[in-house]
Amino acid sequence: MGQQYFAARPEARSGPGTVRVRLPDLDLELATDRGVFAGRRLDPGTDTLLRRGEQSVPDGAVLDLGCGYGPIAVVLARRNPDTVVWAVDVNERARDLCARNAAAAGATNVRTAAPDDVPADVRFTAIWSNPPIRIGKAALHELLLRWLARLEQDGTAHLVVHKHLGSDSLARWLGEQGFGVARRASHQGYRLLDVRPPAAGHD
Ligand SMILES: C[S@@+](CC[C@H](N)C(=O)[O-])C[C@H]1O[C@@H](n2cnc3c(N)ncnc32)[C@H](O)[C@@H]1O
Repeated sequence: MGQQYFAARPEARSGPGTVRVRLPDLDLELATDRGVFAGRRLDPGTDTLLRRGEQSVPDGAVLDLGCGYGPIAVVLARRNPDTVVWAVDVNERARDLCARNAAAAGATNVRTAAPDDVPADVRFTAIWSNPPIRIGKAALHELLLRWLARLEQDGTAHLVVHKHLGSDSLARWLGEQGFGVARRASHQGYRLLDVRPPAAGHD
């Protein structure tokens, strides 16, 4: 695949394109580019998450972890105008695209940021993610622990992971860490996992 989509500064020469995001409630054309995940079409896992995941999110702040060019962040923001959607990615080109796509879609409630630029006191009522499985298991576990620790006690993380990319072992591992894990839906091998923080006062 050449240089990975999760480089901080993709080396791939820019080659702009667009992705059509057609959902029952929204029809958006988003800008994409080379060096960014799923640069030419809406990823089927993301499509599954947006169609079969919760349609509304609680007020407050929610996180799109690994926003890419922004399909999840922009859709959540348009569906929930009173919620602030933090769109976080290590990939600078992806962040630029996400910010542009949010502005073009009128999603003024999207805040695009590098991971270390999210203020430390922000807590999330929900986390949505098509997580970067390809960074490797150890890095993925570290990433999830870092951000799941910022979920409100009654918050939920919604993750989409394909079974061939280890959704079931990831669900098991999260359970072993004390998280509550439920499978909300399964579609064409994509599992939607709802992950809740360990119950307060339990080890
Ligand atoms: C599977 S892609 C999903 C992108 C986008 N949400 C979508 O649905 O098309 C995962 C994203 O996570 C980003 N990523 C990788 N490592 C990360 C990290 N440590 N912190 C935040 N984002 C990261 C990648 O750059 C990539 O854009």
